[in-house]
Amino acid sequence: MKQVAVLVGSLRRESLNRKLAEALMFLGEGKLAMEIVEIGGLPLYNEDLWADPPEAVTAFKAAIAKADAVLIVTPEYNRSMPAAIKNALDWGSRPMGQSVWPGKKAAMAGASPGAVGTAVAQAALRTTIVTLGMALMGQPELYLSVKDDTFAPDGGIGNEKTAKFLAGFVDKFAAWVG
Ligand code: FNR
Repeated sequence: MKQVAVLVGSLRRESLNRKLAEALMFLGEGKLAMEIVEIGGLPLYNEDLWADPPEAVTAFKAAIAKADAVLIVTPEYNRSMPAAIKNALDWGSRPMGQSVWPGKKAAMAGASPGAVGTAVAQAALRTTIVTLGMALMGQPELYLSVKDDTFAPDGGIGNEKTAKFLAGFVDKFAAWVG
């Protein structure tokens, strides 16, 4: 089964995006081997640290290197991607010539209580993902505008229409990853 590294752009415990990532992982069971690769322990990117790279950085790069694909599930912060996601993408792209991103299949998703459901953040993220040489799935797009009933108290998806849409997204991503 193809391995997917899942990156979650929010570091908070009750993150809607972590819930969305977990729902997508549940729906992908048996189709994709999806695992969250944590990014909260990465230091801010600093070129000097390559002289003696922190364990968090080498472990992160190794986890991405062994994955066939990447799924980024992220909130929108001030009409862009959160710094945590950009920082992780930057670490993976260096040292020059040793980027772990080229050729990875990729997809984006995001959840927000707002009406635009992370569309603006994903527009910014799209540019970076493509620049890094990943093969980004263009359709379907997943902008989840979270309502009171979107997530059930047990973390599952609270309404059938959303569950069906998310299942379709995972199926298309599995086909994209090949
Ligand atoms: C936000 N939020 C937000 N929402 C949005 O739709 N567009 C935006 O530009 C922003 N900007 C923004 C900046 C910062 C610094 C924070 C902390 C939040 C609100 C955001 O969508 C909401 O807090 C989500 O619940 C964050 O995702 P998680 O943490 O639930 O996954």
